Amino acid sequence: MLNWFQSKGSKTNASELDKVNVPRHVAVIMDGNGRWAKQRGLPRVAGHHSGMKNVRKIAVAASKLGVEVLTLYAFSTENWKRPKDEVEFLMKLPQEFFPLEIDELMANNVQIRMIGWERGLPEHTLEPVKAAMKRTENNTGLILNFALNYGSRAEMLDGIRNLVADVQNGTLAPDMIDEDVYSGYLLTKGLPDPDLMIRTSGEIRISNFLLWQMAYSELWFTDKFWPDFTTDDFYEAIAEYQRRARRYGGV
Ligand code: IPE
Ligand code: IPE
Ligand code: MG
Repeated sequence: MLNWFQSKGSKTNASELDKVNVPRHVAVIMDGNGRWAKQRGLPRVAGHHSGMKNVRKIAVAASKLGVEVLTLYAFSTENWKRPKDEVEFLMKLPQEFFPLEIDELMANNVQIRMIGWERGLPEHTLEPVKAAMKRTENNTGLILNFALNYGSRAEMLDGIRNLVADVQNGTLAPDMIDEDVYSGYLLTKGLPDPDLMIRTSGEIRISNFLLWQMAYSELWFTDKFWPDFTTDDFYEAIAEYQRRARRYGGV
């Protein structure tokens, strides 16, 4: 069933988009890899592999549109609950993804970043991400930000712990704590809040993604599974974003 906040499947070309009102930060919940595979009689991990292969295309499209930050939800703190084999497969994807795509990302001036807990990630997962971050650190184009071993509630609690420590050691006065100060204690420190959040696969929920940061994000959902999500779908989401009136509680 299609709702007012969901994709209408109408075709949008990049050339039809408003070049001025481009979202600065787009966040994507790349969901539906498992169902994409099931639909084809393949194991769930085949969907993850196919989903991985879809990332570069969308990143390059975002970069060409002038999006400043693209945050992709790759693995949540809750995804550890999945079967061991599936988690192990997911943890091997960075070592395949970065060597495969880094040249194209470099050519597009993309800077790789990560939000999430390094602790808990195996070395063979973390090392290729860190190498890509290092290699792209001086790039000035799109920030391609992977949410890896990320969960928003854990992020907020960690932020509060650090904030309380700073109050206790006297570097932060309680009456100085405002929204900007608190934002500085989150993993997204220094990044603008997402203007647009896209979720694929037909699930209409946030699943512990950027809860504080998405207070005023525009939300857009599509029934398509992530491996099937095309650049035209991405442009359609941007076009819908450009039709929305953001009011932030005003008139
Ligand atoms: C998203 O696809 C990828 C990750 C969460 C790692 P899923 O694996 O959640 O696919 P579905 O939702 O089961 O179809
Ligand atoms: C969210 O998808 C996490 C990622 C896409 C990495 P899930 O598939 O884990 O979320 P739920 O379980 O449907 O809420
Ligand atoms: Mg899912």
